[in-house]
Amino acid sequence: MTPVSAMHPVQPHAAPPSRHRTAARAAYVLAGNDRGRLTVAAPQLYPHMWSWDAAFIAIGLARLSTARALTELETLLAAQWRTGMVPHIVFTEGEVGYEPGPQRWACRDITADAPDGPATSGLIQPPVHGVAVRRILDAARTASAAERRDVAERIRALWPALLAWHRYLATRRDPAGRGLLTIYHGWESGLDNSPRWDAAYAAVTPDPEFVPFRRADLHALGALGGAASQRPSDAEYAKYQWLVEELRRAGYDDARAHRTLSFRMADVLTSALFVAANEELATVADELGLPGVDELIGYADRFRRGVVETADERGFAADVDLRTGDTVRTQTIAGFAPLLSGGLDPARQRLLLATLTSADWCGHPGFVHAVPPSTSPSSPDFDPVRYWRGPQWPPMTWLMIWGLERSGEQETALALREAALDQLSDGLFAEYYQPFTGEPLGARPQSWTAAVALDLLAD
Ligand code: SER
Repeated sequence: MTPVSAMHPVQPHAAPPSRHRTAARAAYVLAGNDRGRLTVAAPQLYPHMWSWDAAFIAIGLARLSTARALTELETLLAAQWRTGMVPHIVFTEGEVGYEPGPQRWACRDITADAPDGPATSGLIQPPVHGVAVRRILDAARTASAAERRDVAERIRALWPALLAWHRYLATRRDPAGRGLLTIYHGWESGLDNSPRWDAAYAAVTPDPEFVPFRRADLHALGALGGAASQRPSDAEYAKYQWLVEELRRAGYDDARAHRTLSFRMADVLTSALFVAANEELATVADELGLPGVDELIGYADRFRRGVVETADERGFAADVDLRTGDTVRTQTIAGFAPLLSGGLDPARQRLLLATLTSADWCGHPGFVHAVPPSTSPSSPDFDPVRYWRGPQWPPMTWLMIWGLERSGEQETALALREAALDQLSDGLFAEYYQPFTGEPLGARPQSWTAAVALDLLAD
């Protein structure tokens, strides 16, 4: 494996010197968090590999070394379950500072579907990996013929695992074929404590006999100088832990989980990301002569319809509580899912863009940086410091920029890109940011923030 230090440096053309420095710092962060075949999400708070973090990290690494970027995805996919599920955490050995750890998940003891290799969690995270594969192939375009061949061969080798992952999602996570993916835990959405899930969590009641385990996150964050007010509350955590227990009791079996879990949500943002990943992988298949193009396009079409069906008259999308049948409309960033999936009629697309840039979102006059908050400051659920209830998250900004560029909305994309680069120029690569003060929050440096900074700066 090539050490990051030996890789070719990022060369942003005509960028001001401070941007060069930010890119160099971002590369340094990724090198520091590199454990050889995986990059830890954030050494203190998240000392393992997280699934969607790994995809963003690969997107950033692609700007330094396509080979190292592919290694990230290979490590993740080597932990794939026999069902095709890609777990949300791949545990690094010997790290005990994170809960729930491998003993709590006990996946291998509970189900034969878990892999023999590294210990993993028993949940998923949003499937952005196809986007990373596309970006790696794009990054190889200007490389030597030998590097291009190597990238193509390694993608070819990963292909069965990537297809199995998408097939798992399209079948076991959408058994009714409605075009929306089911999640069994807020953690699966990646937006753990978003107001999106409040109503569903209100109905999650831990068994009185259940003994919650210790929270490691507050201790880790405290050591970084962060406060408990930046993380989900204890009441929320008790429910998170209980849902892990419910999953264990369901034997990590999807059919049983669909029947028994006390949290089952159709997640519109994860579904929109699945649309995009299917489209991206279909182009990769087409370019490299790999199988599955029609299947991937079929998934993209089905889930695009599913996402757009939830949109209101402004194009703003919603989640669906599968236990109650309720459509859950909240003022969270997930509402912009159609900007990632496409499929809105032009009038609603314009309205949704106008909403994104309005004072209820990026254009709030009090914001230091005009990038999307995780929850609208106009929402009664907004909290400027608490994780997914308000702060701005750079990978979400990256996704919005990427989605807008992809759908030809260059002007809005450019404005977001400039605002994102200003925010990232603090060189701290925080997990998330307070919109009104610009204060860095959560873990820092966080690998995925450094990765998206590198990618934005390299363009
Ligand atoms: N994001 C979760 C945590 O905070 C895990 O996926 O620990």
